[in-house]
Amino acid sequence: MDDRERVQKDEAKGPPEEDPRIAGEKHPVARMIAIGVVASLVGIAIALLIDWFPEPASKSASDIDRLYDVLLICSVPVFVLVMTIAIYSVVRFRAKPGDMGDGPPIHGNAKLEVFWVTVPFIMVTLLAIYGWYELDNIEAKQKNEMVVNVTGQQFTWTFEYPEEKVQTKELVLPVNRAIEFKIHSKDVIHSFWVPQFRLKSDAVPGLTTRIRLTPDKEGNYEVVCAELCGLGHSTMRQFVRVVPAGEFQSWLSDQKKAAGGGGAAAPSGEELFTSSGCAGCHTLAAAGATAKVGPDLGKLDDASDAFIRKSIVDPNAQIEKGYKPDVMPQNFGSDLSKEELDALVKYLLESQE
Ligand code: CUA
Repeated sequence: MDDRERVQKDEAKGPPEEDPRIAGEKHPVARMIAIGVVASLVGIAIALLIDWFPEPASKSASDIDRLYDVLLICSVPVFVLVMTIAIYSVVRFRAKPGDMGDGPPIHGNAKLEVFWVTVPFIMVTLLAIYGWYELDNIEAKQKNEMVVNVTGQQFTWTFEYPEEKVQTKELVLPVNRAIEFKIHSKDVIHSFWVPQFRLKSDAVPGLTTRIRLTPDKEGNYEVVCAELCGLGHSTMRQFVRVVPAGEFQSWLSDQKKAAGGGGAAAPSGEELFTSSGCAGCHTLAAAGATAKVGPDLGKLDDASDAFIRKSIVDPNAQIEKGYKPDVMPQNFGSDLSKEELDALVKYLLESQE
């Protein structure tokens, strides 16, 4: 018998009957599993006790929360079991000081490998089917839906009620009415998110993304941008107000009247300042704007018509000390009409302190 054959023969015998490092210990594997089960139960209890989300305020929120709890109940024991075995092995089977030898040769364990491939595969498949089923319910078309267009731009949200031709900065929704949000972006990727509604969708330039939901609790919630979109990302927050249906209708007709009531008067400079998103980045005392991404527009060094006009249309032409180029969107020249630009410039000239 040469050396190679001897080694193969030894390997075939497998590890010695008793590993000296756990000699005398009764049921080491059973003990490890028991520790794992107890740790899993503690882990699940902690995971379920944590308040992961704010108060739910839409019809699908309870289904989404349940799905999340099921995911926690399935994934926490897997995580805890793997960590328990890893930590247990590190502690129990560590080498004695000075032991430089190899460990016993191990051939693997077919039964164990089949087990740890099959069980996670079945778990993940069932969870995927459950998730798909819930998503299908959430995305299903509802009766009597109201469309609301949502537009993100650096750094503000604009909401439009297309049937009523009303555009606002505040999102107002009637309670218990199905809404279909059509989400757009004018510049970079933003993400439209109301944590209490649980649903979130990216606003992608050139695409229309959609969310369907039914608010079912009156109140004020925050609309948050959840995608890093530039310096003013953290200021891209507005409000959604969920109100009774009657109150919504009267709010809507007020908005319609304010927008011109048929006469379609041009928006004032002050309205343009807010609706174009200037307030998302700039301070202007006259408009109650306090953002600090860009310079204070009430304290311009050069308060001339030409300078203000140039700075809106071509913001990189002259950069105020302490500020960076390419932060302000460069599409205002094309987005604002000649009349709108005139009104905005006039308003800024009048708003100097
Ligand atoms: Cu828009 Cu972040």
